[in-house]
Amino acid sequence: MIRRIKRSDKFEISLVVKDDQFIRPPKDAQRNALLNRAIKEFAEDLTALDHQAGKFVQGAVQNTFIDRTQAILDDQEIMEDWQVPVMQAMAGIVTESQGDILEIGFGRGISSDMIQSHRVRSHTIIECNDAIVARFYQWKGNYQDRDIRLVHGLWQDVMDGLGCFDGIFFHTYPLNEDEYMNYVNGSVTFAAHFFETAEKHLRPEGVFTYFSNEIDSLGREHQRLILKHFSSFSAEIVELNVPDDVKDTWWANSMVVIKAVK
Ligand SMILES: C[S@@+](CC[C@H](N)C(=O)[O-])C[C@H]1O[C@@H](n2cnc3c(N)ncnc32)[C@H](O)[C@@H]1O
Repeated sequence: MIRRIKRSDKFEISLVVKDDQFIRPPKDAQRNALLNRAIKEFAEDLTALDHQAGKFVQGAVQNTFIDRTQAILDDQEIMEDWQVPVMQAMAGIVTESQGDILEIGFGRGISSDMIQSHRVRSHTIIECNDAIVARFYQWKGNYQDRDIRLVHGLWQDVMDGLGCFDGIFFHTYPLNEDEYMNYVNGSVTFAAHFFETAEKHLRPEGVFTYFSNEIDSLGREHQRLILKHFSSFSAEIVELNVPDDVKDTWWANSMVVIKAVK
């Protein structure tokens, strides 16, 4: 059994390795180096989180989860305004090729406007909510001469019929409590359940961007998941002005925007 303790004036980390074969490279010194690195990194992450937590806003009291698949929602319920800078950064990334772009989730059409401002070759949008699909057809009137196609349905049901794209922009939200439990609580980033699909529908060198749910850096689990499906990635921090009574489950004043390349 191996024990490691790391103490600081604010916390103490205690690691007990019970299995003698766990993290067992050829040399003991190598094993020590790996264990020490893991503990050091965890301690550094706790210190960074302590710093971030001090900047969180309070947030509004959460209502119980309603099924949003076909709900009639107002603008702020679809997407709160503080997310606009994230949309701007994601739209810039996904349109770098100005090629064929797939966007999942039309919402208020804000990111769709931004994607159109980059004069892309084609813009395919998947949207499941009938009331939001009606908003799309109204919005489309502003872009009569452009190649914009709507695919009405859940991406889980319609993706197979679509081909490959130069850029994929993923911004949906959990539609019900089951999705919340599985994809938000049970995962490093909500979009993780879409990574495999994004990889399948991107052309070589194609770019994938998504709402990351990361504050100031990417966790190792998140990075490993990206690198399992994509050949490289880059990340930038977008500063946010999150209101004190924010209703979304986000309380930090920044978010990392990611560009993953196939
Ligand atoms: C946060 S909004 C998107 C906001 C948009 N980026 C904007 O700038 O206005 C999320 C959208 O994704 C749609 N959506 C959620 N889950 C979906 C799914 N599984 N398939 C298709 N659309 C989905 C919702 O109906 C909603 O319109």
